Amino acid sequence: MLGGLMAMGALAPGMGFLALALCLAAGAALAAAWLAGVARLDAALRRAAEEQGPFSAPLPAPRLPALGEIEEGLARLTRSLQARAELVGQLRAADAAIVEALPDPLIVLAADRTPLRANQAARRLFGLVGEGLSRGDLGALLRHPVMAAALDRCVAEGAPQAVELALPGAVTRDLSGQVLLMQPPLADGGRLVLMLADRTAARAVERMRADFITNASHELRTPLASVMGFIETLRGPARDDPEAQQRFLAIMAEQSERMRRLIDDLLGLSRVEMSEHQPPSETADLGDLLRAEVAAMEPLYAARGIRLVLALPEAPLTATPADADQLGQVARNLLDNALRHARAEVHLSAEPARLGGREGVAFSVRDDGPGVAREHIPRLTERFYRVDKGRARGAGNTGLGLAIVKHILTRHRGQLAIESELGHGATFRVWVPGG
Ligand SMILES: Nc1ncnc2c1ncn2[C@@H]1O[C@H](COP(=O)(O)OP(=O)(O)OP(=O)(O)O)[C@@H](O)[C@H]1O
Ligand SMILES: [Mg+2]
Repeated sequence: MLGGLMAMGALAPGMGFLALALCLAAGAALAAAWLAGVARLDAALRRAAEEQGPFSAPLPAPRLPALGEIEEGLARLTRSLQARAELVGQLRAADAAIVEALPDPLIVLAADRTPLRANQAARRLFGLVGEGLSRGDLGALLRHPVMAAALDRCVAEGAPQAVELALPGAVTRDLSGQVLLMQPPLADGGRLVLMLADRTAARAVERMRADFITNASHELRTPLASVMGFIETLRGPARDDPEAQQRFLAIMAEQSERMRRLIDDLLGLSRVEMSEHQPPSETADLGDLLRAEVAAMEPLYAARGIRLVLALPEAPLTATPADADQLGQVARNLLDNALRHARAEVHLSAEPARLGGREGVAFSVRDDGPGVAREHIPRLTERFYRVDKGRARGAGNTGLGLAIVKHILTRHRGQLAIESELGHGATFRVWVPGG
């Protein structure tokens, strides 16, 4: 082209200069357009490299054919980066949701041990409201010598460290768990992860079991020691004293009876406990069942001169699902307690009853005895719990009757309500599903 223009220039020098000037101007315009296009591409590439997404809108339509392909390629790259960024976002959200929903507390710490994140279980455990990590006992946990040492060791050795500690507070918490070092650090800068398990409830059950064995052996040891003592006396000092022998044998019979009752109750309790997680599958008529228990107990009431006043409807009162034998035992235990504590009268009534929107049937045993002080009421269903240990032991009670009642009702998904005022009798009301 330039050669052609020069040739033309040979013919007319003025035209030649003009053509050269035009040529230079066109070249400059072309170069400027290229530079602008390249600058745009450069800017877009920089943005794509720096942005985490969402990425900027696609580039404007190409103006120069040679750059067009590159611009298109860049637009494709941007779209693919955008898709990847969305995927990463989804994966992160899924991870966060899993961590948040874990049943055990999980806490993420920065390298300087500042808490960065705590999942819902951890926030609940430490009384943290919302996402804020400034309050609660978390600080106490991180300062606890056992935890602090485990964190130090974890950072120094890079290996997971097991922790087991009791965190004092309103309720002492038994915590166990692991400290992990994150290598490389998490996206949010998390360097250490604490995975905890709240063992407070499990420890309480363990302690209860240990207490139970202690109590049971103690309860058996007392009558057993008494029987053994009398055997010694009968062999020795009372060998030739028929009158003392009769007296001692009577006490021994009483103590043996006490041991038999205790063993029966313990076996009964363990049977109920074993079946507790398997709901009953039959039905029972509460009216019939109560009339049968009353018939069996009437002689005992008569012997003590206590009047049993009944208000049992003739119409069926169906408990379902129910285990008739077990509900009979509930009635027996409550009537036995009422008989022991009543002054003159015990009232037994039954009726259909709804509880929390559920259909059911209920019965109440009310006596006019000394009642139970408010602070003892929640504890009556504990095994071996007796309000007046000395007096109750004299009467040969083991303190297991209401524990058995509670377990039977738990199995029936029922409820026991105890109302009493000291000096004004007590009412034990049982509700079970049915109707
Ligand atoms: N009707 C009541 N009036 C006052 N106190 C009661 C009454 N029923 C139960 N209690 C108190 O609750 C305690 C626990 O009762 P529970 O039936 O579990 O055991 P117990 O009657 O002592 O022994 P067991 O039933 O094993 O022979 C009793 O020792 C008594 O102190
Ligand atoms: Mg009892």
